[in-house]
Amino acid sequence: MGAPPDAPQPPDSEPSPTPAAEPSPDHPHVSVLPLETLEALKLRPGDLAVDATLGAGGHAAAMLDALAPGGTLLGLDVDPEALELARPRLESLAAAKDVKLLLVQSNFRELGSVLDAHLAGRAPRGILADLGVSSMQLDRPGRGFSFRFDAPLDLRMDPRLPHTAADLLRALSETEIADVLFHLGEERRSRAIARWIVEARRRGHPVQTTGQLEELVRRALKVRGHQRIHPATRTFQALRMAVNGELDALEAFLAAAPERLAPGGTLGVISFHSGEDRKVKQAFKLQAQTGRFQKVHKSVLRPSEQEERANPRSRSAKFRALRRLEDDAPAL
Ligand SMILES: C[S@@+](CC[C@H](N)C(=O)[O-])C[C@H]1O[C@@H](n2cnc3c(N)ncnc32)[C@H](O)[C@@H]1O
Repeated sequence: MGAPPDAPQPPDSEPSPTPAAEPSPDHPHVSVLPLETLEALKLRPGDLAVDATLGAGGHAAAMLDALAPGGTLLGLDVDPEALELARPRLESLAAAKDVKLLLVQSNFRELGSVLDAHLAGRAPRGILADLGVSSMQLDRPGRGFSFRFDAPLDLRMDPRLPHTAADLLRALSETEIADVLFHLGEERRSRAIARWIVEARRRGHPVQTTGQLEELVRRALKVRGHQRIHPATRTFQALRMAVNGELDALEAFLAAAPERLAPGGTLGVISFHSGEDRKVKQAFKLQAQTGRFQKVHKSVLRPSEQEERANPRSRSAKFRALRRLEDDAPAL
């Protein structure tokens, strides 16, 4: 297994807080590339659109606006807490703007079956996926997403998933743990960390909490004092992606979503990890080669300096969009 081909992007797991990105009751999560995504989707009143990663509903609120009046918005999230948090604001917005709102707890890998179950025979004009974690997930101590709070090492976005990150670290071999950290976290010292994790297990003290893992990574990497990026960031990101099967879900979504678009419709994906962006780039390239789709932008879109300053979490964001040609016949 070689080194990841792209230069590592700063991991997204632990954004450094600034006033603008600081969660507040009104803005528990600051949406990334809000104007660029809306511009690419080109939603019109009466259209059907899908926000495949609802989160705090920031992008969804803007999409609702563009669909008014008479449109329909389907919002998905694997995390029931995200849906419940976004629901009141989106429901009152939807009612005020005469837009039909459907919120479903689902992984976007199931987009096809959710559309068939709830909106049979209708094809979305726009589908958006804003990948990764939300600030609410990182900031809720009990979720075990962050080393800033000591909590059981969970990292599941969907609490129905059978295995937590702690389960994974108990079950995988040293080599498997190292591979996860290297490939999903781009952690160059993955072997040292894996050795310490397995050694703790051998001594009868398997890693069970976020605090224990953070401490163990520090010791494995012999870190002292302050670092710009916390030394455990890559390890947490890798475990989160493994626990939630994030790359597999993305692959399934990228295979299914373009076919569900209405002719002229657009699929947009914001990613925060080079492994994710590689998959998006490759999938869109293959779709464009069929002659039925075209890439919306010549090259990947990145946040402006101004957005990066206001919302440091946006720094590693990459946005790509794919449009189904107007004259492409809908799949039967
Ligand atoms: C970056 S946040 C989205 C923020 C949202 N766009 C906003 O403006 O508030 C990502 C959300 O996607 C959800 N998520 C991640 N992977 C998912 C998947 N495979 N299917 C559905 N939701 C997913 C997470 O639970 C999280 O709430």
